[in-house]
Amino acid sequence: MTKSLNQPFDPRDKVVVVTGGASGIGAALTREFHKRGAATVVIADLNADRSRGVAGRIAAGKGNGAVIGVQLDVADGEATTELIDRIESDHGPIDLYCANAGIATGSGVETDVDIWNRVWSVNVMAHVHAARALIPRWIERGGGHLLTTASAAALITNLGDAPYSVTKHGALAFAEWVAITHGAQGVGVSCLCPQGVRTPLLFGSSADEFADLSGGTSWSADDLDGSMAAKAVQNQRVLGADEVAVFVADALGRGEFLITPHEEVREYAQKRTEDTDRWIAGMRKLQAHLDQDP
Ligand SMILES: NC(=O)c1ccc[n+]([C@@H]2O[C@H](COP(=O)([O-])OP(=O)(O)OC[C@H]3O[C@@H](n4cnc5c(N)ncnc54)[C@H](O)[C@@H]3O)[C@@H](O)[C@H]2O)c1
Repeated sequence: MTKSLNQPFDPRDKVVVVTGGASGIGAALTREFHKRGAATVVIADLNADRSRGVAGRIAAGKGNGAVIGVQLDVADGEATTELIDRIESDHGPIDLYCANAGIATGSGVETDVDIWNRVWSVNVMAHVHAARALIPRWIERGGGHLLTTASAAALITNLGDAPYSVTKHGALAFAEWVAITHGAQGVGVSCLCPQGVRTPLLFGSSADEFADLSGGTSWSADDLDGSMAAKAVQNQRVLGADEVAVFVADALGRGEFLITPHEEVREYAQKRTEDTDRWIAGMRKLQAHLDQDP
C-alpha cells in the first residue's frame, strides 16, 4: 500500500464549505461531515432558498455543529473570495473546501458557445477561484484541504455530453496540478470521480422535482430522461448519494487523492491507458448500441 498522499482529514471540530450542497452529492457530504462532528458546514449553492432549507434540515439531524446555507454562484470569482472572507471572519479558518457544484448539458459539439463557457466556469474555473483564494492562506497556516468533485468522465469519456467530458478532464488535471505543486507546503487535495450517483443531475431534473434529500428513493431506469448521457448510465452501477458521502469521508480520513466510489472505474481507466485505440473502438460500439435503442 502506497503511503497516503495527504494528511488524513478528520471533520471533527472543523470548518467545511460545500458548494452545490443544496442537492445530491453536496447535500449528502454536508450531512456526513455534520454527523462526523464538523464545527460548521457552510452550504454555498446557487439556489438560496434550497440552500437554507437543506441546511436547516441537516442541522436538525444527528450532529452538534452549525449548518448554514448561503447563496453563491461558483462561477463568480469575486463573490467566492468575498464568501470565503466572510466565513473565515464569522466562523474561523476554513479547513476543507469542497468544490462540488457542477452542471451537465447532455449535448455535443453543436452546444452553444455561451453554454460551453458556462460549463467551463462552473466545472473548472470555480475550483480555480477557490484555490486562488485559499491556497496562499493554507500555505501560511501550514494546512488546509481542497476536495474537488470531477467525475468518472474525467478518466473515461461521458457518452452524450461533450462539455461535461472536457471540463471534468480539466477539473482532474487542475486537482492533480495543485497536489503536485502545493502538496509539500501542507495543502491537501482530493478529487472525487464517481460514475452514476442517484441525484437530480443524473435524472436530468431539478432538485425540487427530484426531492430526494434522504437518498431513500428506489432507483428505476424508467425515471431517466431520454438523453444519451442518461441512457448510457443504464449500463452502470448507480450508487446513492449517501453511500458516496460515507466513502468520501472515509477516503479523506485515509488521506487519499483519487476517490472512486465505483471501484470498476479504476479498471476502465487502466484499460483505456493500456490500449486507448481499443478502448475507443469499444466505446464506439456502446455508442452505436445506444443510438439504435431510442
Ligand atoms: N450524479 C452523478 O451521477 C454524478 C456523477 C459524477 C460526478 N457528479 C458530479 O457531482 C457534483 C454534484 O452533482 P449532483 O449529482 O449532486 O447534482 P445535483 O444537480 O443534485 O446538485 C448540484 C447542485 O449544484 C448547484 N449548482 C449548480 N450550478 C451552481 C453554481 N453556478 N453555483 C453554485 N451552485 C451551483 C445546484 O443548484 C445543485 O444544488 C457535480 O460536480 C457533478 O458533475 C455527479
